[in-house]
Amino acid sequence: MDQTLLNRAIEYEKEHEKSISPEERPLFHLSPRSGWLNDPNGFSFYKGQYHLFYQYNPYNTVWGPMHWGHAVSHDLLHWEYLPCVMAPDQDYDKGGVFSGSAVTLDDGRQLLMYTGVTDDIIKTNNQANQVQCVATGDGLTYTKYEGNPVISYTDIPEGSDPSDFRDPKIWRREDGSFRAICANRPADGSGQILLYESPDGFNWKFSKIFLSNESRYGLMWECPDFFTLDGKGVLLMSPMDMLPEGFEFHNGNGNICFLGKYDYDAETFEPEGVQAIDSGIDFYASQTMLSPDGRRIMIGWMQNPDGSSYRVVPRPWYGQMTVPRELSIKDGRLIQQPIRELEALRKNEVIYRDVLVDNECRLEGVKGRTVDMTVRIRPADPEHPYHKFILRFAMNGDYYTQLTFRYKENVLKLDRKFSGSRRAVINQRRCLVRKRSQELKLRVILDRFSVEVFINDGDQVMTALLYTEMSADNMMFFSDGAAVIDVDKYDLMD
Ligand code: FRU
Repeated sequence: MDQTLLNRAIEYEKEHEKSISPEERPLFHLSPRSGWLNDPNGFSFYKGQYHLFYQYNPYNTVWGPMHWGHAVSHDLLHWEYLPCVMAPDQDYDKGGVFSGSAVTLDDGRQLLMYTGVTDDIIKTNNQANQVQCVATGDGLTYTKYEGNPVISYTDIPEGSDPSDFRDPKIWRREDGSFRAICANRPADGSGQILLYESPDGFNWKFSKIFLSNESRYGLMWECPDFFTLDGKGVLLMSPMDMLPEGFEFHNGNGNICFLGKYDYDAETFEPEGVQAIDSGIDFYASQTMLSPDGRRIMIGWMQNPDGSSYRVVPRPWYGQMTVPRELSIKDGRLIQQPIRELEALRKNEVIYRDVLVDNECRLEGVKGRTVDMTVRIRPADPEHPYHKFILRFAMNGDYYTQLTFRYKENVLKLDRKFSGSRRAVINQRRCLVRKRSQELKLRVILDRFSVEVFINDGDQVMTALLYTEMSADNMMFFSDGAAVIDVDKYDLMD
């Protein structure tokens, strides 16, 4: 197989990464080795370490010819780059090596399953067909299967669109056989999830339509992921072209989680509940894996795809992943917590208890841009609760980003309007806090260019990028009406 394109990418990234200093990158969120990154791919534990591949254009900080970049880690926080594993160099994937996933074969090899785009989608105005392909490897180098594609664009239900057929998520059943779900666009122009089955990972056949959108949640669905967790079936995906619904879903490309009944033998899934995965601004294309100790861990592309063509500030790289999140189910809801490994990065503990905030308040030691901070906020007098509480961070004389909680409305707003962006991208998102209780608990994770807010122990999450200059590292609390807060703050350091 001709490796010219792959070797070129490997040479390029090795040379080019030298021009990006560690301080220009996030501390523990994965960014591309060079160029551009979008979806997480092939998220897995293989040969004693975590592997994360990613949609990758090594040559430029914009979306372009899709490769698969590769990084490995022992704790999902310290990443080591490995050479790019796939380039768009075959007839069936010359338009791009699109998203996919990974499993381990019985013979010890790792199997990557991905979407090949058969032609240049820019030239063909998005009409290039999409096929599913596999590659095998040893954790370092991978070889595309000579029988590719393993699922052709004709193996879809009648009337469905062969140019919107992608993002296989593969898993194995107890009997060792293989299943994969793919996103596809049926004749009605919305989305559907197709289930495929295989005895060996190489020979595939269509099984059934796993779930149809019927234009309820956006149109085409991208990057599906299915697993069982705490007795429930969980289907995650990223719908394109959504319409807003209350505080839960927003216009544009979003993210969604269905929880429901999964019949293991019949392989049917009946959704019982639906929710946003992340209610912030920047979250898309999530993928999960099972860690060796049995945790279901999710990672996403920390980016609003609709805003990804805007350059808020110039950067030598573009695109990063979220913090990996441990998933669980509680009261019929998906719960997310930052992986517990993050606690090992905590330094410089600063603790405050029962601090009265009535108007403006700054606390000694409460600042920084790589931070893990939990704040619990309650009214000083429950009979006369405060109206509005604000936590301001990434702040200096010019810039700040803030969280505002309105007690009566129970609404939390994330606002990065004054973070230094000069672009008309979405800068604010509000979320209705689901739990109504006197105390609001916020865990705020900052890593230089991002904030992730875990609300009430991960019951809801709001994620956003902020490209504010690093000297903006102050924090401030403000309350309109008296509030009492507890603060547990740590710097996150290597
Ligand atoms: C989602 C997505 C996927 C596709 C990939 C291409 O962000 O559009 O559907 O496989 O990106 O880079």
